[in-house]
Amino acid sequence: MIVPGSASQEVAAALSRELDEPLAAAEYDRFADGETLVRVPETAERAIVVASTVSDAAHVELLQLQDAAREQAEEVVTVLPYMGYARQDRAFEAGQPVSARAMARAISTGTDRVVTVNPHEGSVCDFFETPCTVVDAAGRLAEPLPSLSEPLFLSPDASAVDLAEAVRDAYGAGEADYFEKDRHSDTDVEIRPSDANTANRDVVLVDDIIATGSTMSMAIAQLSEPTRVFVTCVHPMLAANARSKLATAGVDAVYGTDTIERAVSAVSVAPAIADKL
Ligand code: R5P
Repeated sequence: MIVPGSASQEVAAALSRELDEPLAAAEYDRFADGETLVRVPETAERAIVVASTVSDAAHVELLQLQDAAREQAEEVVTVLPYMGYARQDRAFEAGQPVSARAMARAISTGTDRVVTVNPHEGSVCDFFETPCTVVDAAGRLAEPLPSLSEPLFLSPDASAVDLAEAVRDAYGAGEADYFEKDRHSDTDVEIRPSDANTANRDVVLVDDIIATGSTMSMAIAQLSEPTRVFVTCVHPMLAANARSKLATAGVDAVYGTDTIERAVSAVSVAPAIADKL
């Protein structure tokens, strides 16, 4: 059975269709002191808990769903379409936690294996104490793109150029390149232009995640006379005013997957996840 987290109901339903396994109807309750309680009424041989940890509350819900699923199934698999805290994969200053490691350890206690989609760094898998499989959904990002003229696929930094190349390859035409990026703080990002000519071309900016939208907005500001600008990412977190920032920056359309369920989630990662289960 597929056990959906409340923030991942679309992708869980899509996975249920892909695998032809039933969806569990998790039940929720809240105590007067604010604590939550979940219940998984069904039993099965295998429970696949599908929950993007998009918030601290989603982390708690995941631990509860895993524990409940363990009572009802022989095998528990945890699918993290989006793994929260994955970008905190090292201590930036002495005395800080490696938050991704702390989250991975906690999640490991309730599962036999983990499957996650395009974590910021694949090495985050090493933090889990159970087997961890990475799903690469980048190729699917080409699906919602319209027909492009002289396409140029750009990533905002060198580490994401693989994603830009994967989208270019899936689209089937165009060049791929990247910007140089320096991050001074959570919202202060400096982008230096690439050598690629952007004039009179359709530009597709590709990244693993759009969080505050600062990176993509800065990248768009560096483009010189593009015909159209499309922005695509695996994880459309789009926190706070990120979508408005992108609109103000002049983007023609934003696309993401359903690892984080947003209005821009034009592509489902469920088929790619199903291949690994
Ligand atoms: C960082 O290296 C990531 O690949 C993204 O570029 C970054 O996390 C996006 O964050 P934001 O939208 O807040 O600039």
